[in-house]
Amino acid sequence: MEDLILRAAKDIMNSKYAIALTGAGISTESGIPDFRGPSGIWTKNPEAERRAYRSYERFLADPKGWWEERLSSPGFLGDLSKVKPNPGHYALAQLEKIGILKWVITQNVDALHEKAGTQNLLEYHGNAFKLRCISCIARFKPGEFDVKKLAKEDKLPPRCPKCGGVIKSDGVAFGEPIPADVADKSYTEALRCDLMLICGTSAVVYPFAELPRVARRRGNVVIIEVNAEPTPLTMSGISDYIIQGKTGEILSRIVEEVKKLKGKA
Ligand code: APR
Ligand code: ZN
Repeated sequence: MEDLILRAAKDIMNSKYAIALTGAGISTESGIPDFRGPSGIWTKNPEAERRAYRSYERFLADPKGWWEERLSSPGFLGDLSKVKPNPGHYALAQLEKIGILKWVITQNVDALHEKAGTQNLLEYHGNAFKLRCISCIARFKPGEFDVKKLAKEDKLPPRCPKCGGVIKSDGVAFGEPIPADVADKSYTEALRCDLMLICGTSAVVYPFAELPRVARRRGNVVIIEVNAEPTPLTMSGISDYIIQGKTGEILSRIVEEVKKLKGKA
């Protein structure tokens, strides 16, 4: 493990344009369960996964009903407002602060990267604390719509003040297209990077899992995984190497070593 951490620190120091990709695994040390790990939400409740697969269809068919259901039952991730970032999130924020990490592209809707101080952040699957117009992709803070009042006045779903489109939570549901602004920017960054640090994802959900392949196809890129278990990226040789273990511990160690190397540089 130590030799891989030193190798990663050297690779990161030698990079000119490093980006990070993250998944639910980076937030488990903050107390949010992942999906497909040994104690993941889908692993423990396959019925919930089947229901999640139908969510977007249900929304398109009956946005009013979808909002009424949402008002009466909390999402499968529970209340995220009190959750705090962990050393894994802070390590990536530090790598950005010292000028090495250019972007973090996350699948997580928990806003923990933002809370940890990451500035250049692409939320590929949206943000649980935001709403979005499905027509013009304008995003809104929940406080901008009094959904309970709209429900009382039988005026659901909320409508976009810009284009009149239907408003949905910003979290991207299975089968829902990734908002074009985030999808395009993420693709551009995957094409541009010369180092990709992939943290805490099983890398099985597309189109996000395509991003490492985009970078690999372009070539001249170092792809490093930090994950509790190997993934299809490991098996197929898309990644150069995996550091198997906890993101909180490993990313903190890598930053320590990067700082030592920077000090010597
Ligand atoms: N450190 C390192 N790896 C971890 C840790 C940890 N502390 N905790 C869990 N892991 C690993 C798990 O072993 C698993 O391989 O992180 C991975 C998490 O994978 P998933 O649960 O599949 O989460 P993710 O890849 O983010 O899922 C993608 O699927 O359900 C949808 O929209 C949801 O964004 C999500 C998408
Ligand atoms: Zn709109």
